[in-house]
Amino acid sequence: MSSIFLDTIKGKSCSRPPVWFMRQAGRILPSYRKLKENHHFYDMMKDPELASEVTLLPINDLGVDSAILFSDILVIPDALGLELIFTKNGPKFTNALSEGSHNQLDFVPQKLDYIYTNIKKTVEKKKDTPLIGFCGGPLTTFLFMFRGDETQKSFKDAIKFFYNNRKESVKIIELITEASIDYVKNQVKSGIECFQLFETYCGSIPYDLYEELILPYSKKILNTAKELGCSTIFFPKDFSLGLKSINNEICDFVSIDWTMKLDDARNLVDDKVGLQGNMDPRIFYYSEPEIKNYLETLSNFGKKNHDWVFNLGHGFLPDIDYKKVQNVVNWIKTKNWGR
Ligand code: CP3
Repeated sequence: MSSIFLDTIKGKSCSRPPVWFMRQAGRILPSYRKLKENHHFYDMMKDPELASEVTLLPINDLGVDSAILFSDILVIPDALGLELIFTKNGPKFTNALSEGSHNQLDFVPQKLDYIYTNIKKTVEKKKDTPLIGFCGGPLTTFLFMFRGDETQKSFKDAIKFFYNNRKESVKIIELITEASIDYVKNQVKSGIECFQLFETYCGSIPYDLYEELILPYSKKILNTAKELGCSTIFFPKDFSLGLKSINNEICDFVSIDWTMKLDDARNLVDDKVGLQGNMDPRIFYYSEPEIKNYLETLSNFGKKNHDWVFNLGHGFLPDIDYKKVQNVVNWIKTKNWGR
């Protein structure tokens, strides 16, 4: 299969940067909102027909170069025994971790089987579009496992536990890693062609502590995909100067958040690793001419750097106009990149 996304991720120089967006299969799309009138998010995730349909919506509706599996990072804690529910205010666990409760964790791999069915169904329908699989980074997953109250958006209990019970925390991180490794293997076997690790809350601890305690586990998860021939993208949000420690033994591409200029990130990250990112998602609140100005600046980077995938610095905000997103995709596809 020839694809501008897979070619770029594998290090080939293409006529333009490929484009996809974090959280592209969600509520910015009118087609998704329509489905949501009759189906709950978690039910759609569990139904292979609906999950594969939603996965492929952005291909038609936005014109992106890759699909990302319609699922959620919190399925791993669920498979470890924490009962996940999505309330209207966000996700929570009915039996979330707290001081002294962690012994209940026990990985039941079969609880993820429905996701492999979803992947196979999507592969059947998708034609030439590549499919990205994913899971949460070990720290991000750990932090969410303490969320028993969906209105409590800070991770203060989890962070306190992490600082108070370092050994226990590392044991939990190890369990998350083991489950994630099994999950990644089965995603690749089911047909994903690229794997992204979402370490969205990487910046919750100092970067040197992340490097020392968590990065070796993130690397293991990413390497599992790589060893099976699947390309990898790592998204360590707010890792700041920690980007210096990213090399191609960890991942093929690293996704950059919007706090840093791509040129600065390029200077920090090892030359053999490509970059993804990093449009500030709030730019979609700008007017069309202001968006074009912003894109011109970003595009200077793409003229020089062919190992770049256009994406956001973090997922879409729900209340933006998807037509502006279509226009950004068209702009990328029709611009002369001088390559
Ligand atoms: O990117 C995609 O379109 C693919 C699917 C995807 C979802 N969640 C679907 C989803 C992906 C890759 C995720 C990752 C995810 N989930 C992360 C990491 C990336 C990030 O954006 O930070 C995190 C932290 C979660 C946990 C989660 N899931 C939260 C905090 C919430 C509620 C808040 C929100 O952003 O909606 C969810 C729910 C969720 N996951 C929705 C979707 C489409 C919204 C559900 C709905 O339609 O009501």
